[in-house]
Amino acid sequence: MKTYNIGIIAGDGIGPEVTNEALKVLRTVAAGYDFNFVEYPYSGAHYLKTKELVPDKVIEEWKTLDAIFLGAIGHPAVEVGLVERSVILGLRFGLDLYINLRPIKLYSENLCPLKGKTPADINFAVVRENTEGEYTQIGGILKKGSPDEVATSTSIYTRVGIERAVRYAFELARSRASASNKPGHLTLVDKANAIRPQEIWTRVFAEVGKDYPDIKQDHAYVDAFAMLMIQKPEYYDTIVTTNLYGDILTDLGSMLQGGIGIAASANLHPGKTSMFEPIHGSAPDIAGKGIACPLAAIMAAGMMLDYLGESDSANRIESSVEHLLASGQITSLDATSGLSTTQIGDMVVGQVRKSK
Ligand code: IPM
Ligand code: MG
Repeated sequence: MKTYNIGIIAGDGIGPEVTNEALKVLRTVAAGYDFNFVEYPYSGAHYLKTKELVPDKVIEEWKTLDAIFLGAIGHPAVEVGLVERSVILGLRFGLDLYINLRPIKLYSENLCPLKGKTPADINFAVVRENTEGEYTQIGGILKKGSPDEVATSTSIYTRVGIERAVRYAFELARSRASASNKPGHLTLVDKANAIRPQEIWTRVFAEVGKDYPDIKQDHAYVDAFAMLMIQKPEYYDTIVTTNLYGDILTDLGSMLQGGIGIAASANLHPGKTSMFEPIHGSAPDIAGKGIACPLAAIMAAGMMLDYLGESDSANRIESSVEHLLASGQITSLDATSGLSTTQIGDMVVGQVRKSK
């Protein structure tokens, strides 16, 4: 029997609460394989106790696992961004996880804040480039605190980095098309009108696009796209965009799904150890109350199984969550659902069992 070695970083705030539920669902769905969960303590809370961030040798160890699952990182008493950069960006850069795949999918009309939009209208996938752009930490602050203070932040776009993200997105558009029997469609989202160096995205997209004549190819500037994804989400299927724009647009997109409580993501280096996480943060305001929605973590666990090749299990998780939402058994994706974190986890476990 195959055993998957999965690194677990439960993290801060609601991270451990939602991770528990995701692990429950993983243990339930496993059939013909099992898991060896390896826990890692890295978090803001751990840093406060020990002053320890992620050591380089642990990044090397992570590369030997089958996948990493991350709950949430962020602690209000720790310097802004310190632990996020060590753990989240440490994983993305250390494991060269160059794709951040974030599906935007509505499972029940009742959850959507847009009038008249149904699950048939909201189903697109954002491919966020995950190792470049504003996130490379190239820059700094000179003469800090003085009147002549200067801050710089350089955006990096490499041909290799863009090409591998764009090619992945074209392949995804193709596989989504064949799965849905609809024509393929990929949209490049950038801001190349104002930030001219982003024109490299325009050219690489056109060059790679020659290999995909079956895929409809178009483009939107990110400001317009923020409007268009609300105005006509049904027009979009697969999006490819920069690291920062992908970060922002997927928080907006989570609202189209009904809430950040269901938005999941896969940080991928195809063929290598990859990392799976809900896109929400540690939510210190509701931490410890047992009311966080664990569905984003559960959906991220589903994406992990899909990546590991256990697509039957992944489908069972997705269809179980879909059933609970579409049947109105879970009526909201935030802390006001009236259901506890554990209750929602138990409901998914129950539904997954029935789906055998
Ligand atoms: C996300 C988060 C991270 C990001 C932060 C916590 C560094 O917002 O995963 O979307 O900006 O990528
Ligand atoms: Mg974000």
